[in-house]
Amino acid sequence: MSIRMEDLTVKFKNGVTAVDHVCLEIPKGVYGLLGENGAGKTTLMRVLTTVLAQTGGTVTLDGMQYSEQNYEKIQKKIGYLPQEIDLYPGLTVQECLEYMGDLAGIPKELCRKRIRYYLEKTSLTDHRRKKMRQLSGGMKRRVGLIQALLNEPEFLIVDEPTTGLDPEERIRIRNLLVDFSDNRTVLFSTHVVEDLVATCSRLAIMKKGRFLYSGSMQELLDEAKGHVWICRTSDEGTAREIEKNYHVSSKQFVDGGMQVKFLSEDKPEIRCAPCETTLEDAYIYVTNFRAGRL
Ligand SMILES: Nc1ncnc2c1ncn2[C@@H]1O[C@H](COP(=O)(O)OP(=O)(O)OP(=O)(O)O)[C@@H](O)[C@H]1O
Ligand SMILES: [Mg+2]
Repeated sequence: MSIRMEDLTVKFKNGVTAVDHVCLEIPKGVYGLLGENGAGKTTLMRVLTTVLAQTGGTVTLDGMQYSEQNYEKIQKKIGYLPQEIDLYPGLTVQECLEYMGDLAGIPKELCRKRIRYYLEKTSLTDHRRKKMRQLSGGMKRRVGLIQALLNEPEFLIVDEPTTGLDPEERIRIRNLLVDFSDNRTVLFSTHVVEDLVATCSRLAIMKKGRFLYSGSMQELLDEAKGHVWICRTSDEGTAREIEKNYHVSSKQFVDGGMQVKFLSEDKPEIRCAPCETTLEDAYIYVTNFRAGRL
């Protein structure tokens, strides 16, 4: 299972180019998609699920072109958790999932077996008789994820699956996605950097409809290596100067002052020490320093 995009473009009627001539190949496994609000992640995912047609370029799934005559075949291979999902408020969780399974053409018994399995995996078994409208936001999100998994798709597209989940559920869902990705492709968008650290080895970073980075997590970290610095200071003026001149990735009060972690392309002129790079630092590095070079 591999997905290829070539020169892919989505231009809306209002003139916004949400996806701007991008090329990308997504291999098997969990593939992360990071990017600021409005970067184009949802639009890209909507094209990959065939919900939205591109206005330029091509997409192929295992060599099969995204075109109207192939849409049905492609849809059978895809599961999708949209960013916004509001499933049948008057149905119970069980009824809702059975209905979704029916629409997907999954035989009844097999469907029930899968529902049982995924309800358990997402800690929803005890809530299966509740009406959809009685669920909390995080529970609805998990039901949404189950409906995307029901046909056990080869290509799973999940748009911010962990939004609104408590820490324990977030971890369970991430682990579920990793297990599910065995021999399949999972495209996972999120704003939470730790979600990607915990699940994927490859990712793309989007900004203004383009990819600032695509490749391995390790190469991304290497790219920012040597550009992350830490300064401990008791002088408020120094802390302010850092904030004014550099991209600060974190700051905290420590004994006797402030510790500021920041990014700089060159060695800063203030007293500071090089520092280990996290994915969050690398993200800030790429979005701020690479964007200017494109
Ligand atoms: N149907 C639409 N018509 C016009 N413009 C749109 C439409 N959908 C999205 N856009 C615009 O396209 C751009 C990309 O939006 P998109 O929803 O893909 O971003 P995103 O990366 O998913 O953001 P977020 O992280 O907030 O979910 C934005 O400028 C948005 O306003
Ligand atoms: Mg989005």
